[in-house]
Amino acid sequence: MARECYTKHKREYMKKLIIGNWKMNLNMQEASLYLHKLSELIPAQRTVDVVLAPTMLTLQSLSLQVNRRQFKLAAQNSYWRDQGAYTGEVPAAHLRGIVDYVLIGHSERRYLFMESDKETRAKVQSAVRNHLQPVLCVGETASERANGETRDVLHDQLVGGLANLTADELDELVIAYEPVWAIGTGNNATPDDVKEAVRIIRHQINQLFGARATKEVRVIYGGSVNIDNAQSYLSLDQVDGLLIGGASLDAHQFSEIVDMAYKLEGGRAS
Ligand code: PGA
Repeated sequence: MARECYTKHKREYMKKLIIGNWKMNLNMQEASLYLHKLSELIPAQRTVDVVLAPTMLTLQSLSLQVNRRQFKLAAQNSYWRDQGAYTGEVPAAHLRGIVDYVLIGHSERRYLFMESDKETRAKVQSAVRNHLQPVLCVGETASERANGETRDVLHDQLVGGLANLTADELDELVIAYEPVWAIGTGNNATPDDVKEAVRIIRHQINQLFGARATKEVRVIYGGSVNIDNAQSYLSLDQVDGLLIGGASLDAHQFSEIVDMAYKLEGGRAS
């Protein structure tokens, strides 16, 4: 798969990952026009993985339009069984060949659609089974944060989402730290908040899967990322990229953020 980790034993260089989560925006025609616009603004290069997550309906037509050396696609969700009588669901098995990544356990899924850790776990497993890279989203709510429960929430969501996987199956996993209070609020976490959360996440991965998995898993940040604050996260060694909602719908902002990541990577030649 498309990920590159330039070392097996030390976190020296991990390719940055920028994901644009379009959420329930842009119909087929709008999505196609927007992809066209982005493809003119963001050059194809190998040093940053740029991933677009449009609605389920637009994925297939965008997969025919997209230059996969320029952008990869992600589904915003998927169902965990491979087939059967599950009206309205789309399984990871049907997304194979169309997307490379799938978002799992986004807080909007957890809190608006009451998705449980048991479901996120089954979804992570079905993504792995179908050779898609899961992006497991974790993060605490404002009240959990106020009560000092961040560590426990991250622990529960990671154990809940990843139990039953082997360290080898973790190879392609991405974890997105997305504090619920920061999503869509303009109230982004500070770089220190993010550093601390990523430390907790890696510690937990270490407990569950050992040192190699800890070094190789990519951990990204999401929550009110925009053109003004993106650099402060991208320049943290601990943070391997960004999951961007609102600002990913603004071609100027999104392409500038990708450019920042590219420049921070030293514009490594493809
Ligand atoms: P936001 O959304 O950037 O609009 O806060 C992030 C997300 O929901 O993934």
